[in-house]
Amino acid sequence: MSEVIISCKDIVKTYNAGEAEVKALQGTTLDIYKNELLMLVGPSGCGKTTFVSVMTALLRFDSGSCEVLGKEISTMRDEDKTAFRGKNIGFVFQSFNLLPSLTAIENIALPLTIAGVKRQKAQVAAKEMLEAVGLGLKADAKPNHLSGGQQQRVAIARALVHQPKLIICDEPTSSLDHKSGQVVMELLKKITQEKGSTLIVVTHDNRIYQYADKMAYMEDGKIVKVEVS
Ligand SMILES: Nc1ncnc2c1ncn2[C@@H]1O[C@H](COP(=O)(O)OP(=O)(O)OP(=O)(O)O)[C@@H](O)[C@H]1O
Ligand SMILES: [Mg+2]
Repeated sequence: MSEVIISCKDIVKTYNAGEAEVKALQGTTLDIYKNELLMLVGPSGCGKTTFVSVMTALLRFDSGSCEVLGKEISTMRDEDKTAFRGKNIGFVFQSFNLLPSLTAIENIALPLTIAGVKRQKAQVAAKEMLEAVGLGLKADAKPNHLSGGQQQRVAIARALVHQPKLIICDEPTSSLDHKSGQVVMELLKKITQEKGSTLIVVTHDNRIYQYADKMAYMEDGKIVKVEVS
């Protein structure tokens, strides 16, 4: 059997927004294996974003355990969390989150520059990723001169440039048309298979379910079913 990369057990997370308490995670349990493309699906508000925020050490939780790449998140120090994410995790969001004043290639190189990689080496790696996502000719374009689908491909290149073991995508295709969504998923799947990474895709978009190796269904802060595709 394949190696477990993420193991979450009985995670509880309650938000305290003013008077109102929201029980976002109510005993969430899930194992995620190396090299799989897991889709996390479920109705709006069921806790998907909260769950991936817990797994990526972006959000503290009340109880339970969450081991990611052999490290227990709940006992990690804050400064270690930042370094852990920087080294191991790539993020892709619905709203591409590119920096508008930087060109495509500069956006992609950014995670490397932040990690202390020399400018020239970062540029070379960024160029390679830009070509891998089929945008070799757009290196110097600013995000507002790119289509939504192209911006998302830049965001994918940026998420993958430091070769993270884990890639988390929260609604990566929701603001894209059908064709761009398919292109984005095919790229994500191909590149992650080549690099042996693990991909978690949070989505409402049933047009991309076909790309999943496994579907995890969430309801009211719990995983209620896991299905191998
Ligand atoms: N920062 C916050 N403060 C208070 N409540 C929050 C916060 N973030 C999320 N919630 C609440 O927690 C619950 C789970 O939210 P979450 O964003 O995880 O859902 P989701 O499954 O990602 O939904 P969607 O599909 O709409 O993105 C919701 O009821 C939401 O209103
Ligand atoms: Mg969400």
